[in-house]
Amino acid sequence: MNISEIIALKNKRKITMLTAYDYPIAELLDKAGIDIILVGDSLANVVLGLDSTTEVGMPEMLHHTRAVRRAVKNALLVADMPFDSYQLNPDDCLKNAQEFIDQAGAQAIKLEWFERALEVTSRISSTGIPVMGHIGLTPQTVDKIGGFKCQGKDAESANRLIEQAVNLEEKGCFAIVLECVPDKIARIITKKIKIPTIGIGAGVHCDGQVLVVNDMLGLFQRYTPKFVKKYADIGSLILKAATEFKEEVIGEKFPDAGHSFTIKEEELKKIEEA
Ligand code: KIV
Repeated sequence: MNISEIIALKNKRKITMLTAYDYPIAELLDKAGIDIILVGDSLANVVLGLDSTTEVGMPEMLHHTRAVRRAVKNALLVADMPFDSYQLNPDDCLKNAQEFIDQAGAQAIKLEWFERALEVTSRISSTGIPVMGHIGLTPQTVDKIGGFKCQGKDAESANRLIEQAVNLEEKGCFAIVLECVPDKIARIITKKIKIPTIGIGAGVHCDGQVLVVNDMLGLFQRYTPKFVKKYADIGSLILKAATEFKEEVIGEKFPDAGHSFTIKEEELKKIEEA
């Protein structure tokens, strides 16, 4: 998948996007034919056990992007810019975006809306690095938007989202994530812009859908947002397997002969005699 192929999917078929943070999961998502794989900064919450996505930086994001890059053969690989790489230090945004492309093999970067999002988007996209926007519920600035809740629920804030989307397209974004936005506002935005919208908690009218993979696989138990559908319960499978392992080791049922190595009796005798 490349950028033009993703854009060409708009009005043809829905676009699929999932997050991945490591080699084995990325390999499976790629095999399943997912269009876009995002190394999201949700890494902070669902993999590293941190409270806020602002707690991960470039070293962690580059490390995990490299692991995912080794697995992905077909999907478009997008890396999330961590908070301090462009919001805390907007002057470093281009250098950091370039590192994702040159040093980690990402094909595009994603950044969340903040007061200087248009300037940063323009600086990065004008050098040819594809930028995916992210508006609505933007976890990196959750304190400024009133918490983890649906955005654009009144005419004024909905109009702000529509304007942000139009401006991001104008500054060169190739797609925009709409997070926790009323479905009818997502429909207005999706109709208004030519680039694809990828929804998460934004209803069925978006051009595509994204979920955090650990949420949809049942691998993250701490909290589950309303918009998450659990397609599998891998957490329960892991719990069952680990409990069974514990019981078999303590009960001396594992390892059995089939999982052990042998030595010929005559060789053993030589050792015992010595
Ligand atoms: O970090 C992330 O996982 C994301 C998705 C929710 C789009 O930004």
